[in-house]
Amino acid sequence: MKHLLKLSDLTREEILSILNLGDQLKFERNNGIQKDYLKGKKLGMIFQKSSTRTRVSFEVGMYELGGYALFLSSNDLQIGRGEPVQDTARVLSRYLDGIMIRTFAQQEVEDLAKYGSIPIINGLTDYCHPCQVLADLMTIREYKGTFKGLKMAFIGDGNNMANSLIVGAVKTGMQISVACPENHLPDEKLVAWGKESGLLTVTTSVKDAIEGADVLYTDVWASMGQEGEKKQRENDFKGYQINEENIKGAKEDVMVMHCLPAHRGEEITEGVFEAHAKEIFDEAENRLHAQKAVMVKLLRY
Ligand code: CP
Ligand code: NVA
Repeated sequence: MKHLLKLSDLTREEILSILNLGDQLKFERNNGIQKDYLKGKKLGMIFQKSSTRTRVSFEVGMYELGGYALFLSSNDLQIGRGEPVQDTARVLSRYLDGIMIRTFAQQEVEDLAKYGSIPIINGLTDYCHPCQVLADLMTIREYKGTFKGLKMAFIGDGNNMANSLIVGAVKTGMQISVACPENHLPDEKLVAWGKESGLLTVTTSVKDAIEGADVLYTDVWASMGQEGEKKQRENDFKGYQINEENIKGAKEDVMVMHCLPAHRGEEITEGVFEAHAKEIFDEAENRLHAQKAVMVKLLRY
């Protein structure tokens, strides 16, 4: 494993090995054991979109591992004025040991890896959000002890989160049911791949997706970059909400997850969100541990 560009590049074994290391690093942190796994290593963090969790968890994670993280806003970088990614990649490879990038086009992340000579980590694109799903998988295993036999339901937009959750679920052997409107389906190729595994169902019925689920997941209706479509999307996604009524169709011990930020009253009700706040904020915390594991795997040697 040289980069983390998208989850589908990783084998099941690589994913499980990141989760195991994440568990170990969490244990060490909770027990006051501090080890400089990445002493002196430098991570550049390029942000072309806003972030709370990704920015802070990568920066704190790098600090805790004995390394250094540089926050690089695209507003200030020459990339924001049109310097090509190919050149940015080659320049930054001379200074840094790794790059985390949050941007729009997946191609930009792939190009950084192609032209640079250091590990690249995808911190979210329009296509996928692999770091989030690694933390999600870690959280599911913490709560449920296993992936085997579990059913996850994703309700809402077939967006970057849905794409990565499909990959994460199929690779760990969970069933996943995605409920979304016909005109907001997840990536076509991923859907075909997921269906081939026999583990993915895509439906327009929220009720069918939630039926018997062990894990319910949702995300915003309008992602970063889609602010102009907000009104239209509110209309398209009416009914694609996790609420007090439809959650009754899930298993009694269902866990509810959200990558955050959440829009209460849209994709999830205030009541369901708060009743499951423990899971949701454990999930947010696990971003730190899972990403530390990713950084150790990619930057250690
Ligand atoms: N879930 C997530 O990636 O959050 P941020 O946008 O705050 O980084
Ligand atoms: N789908 C959301 C996820 C935010 C973490 C977005 O891309 O804005």
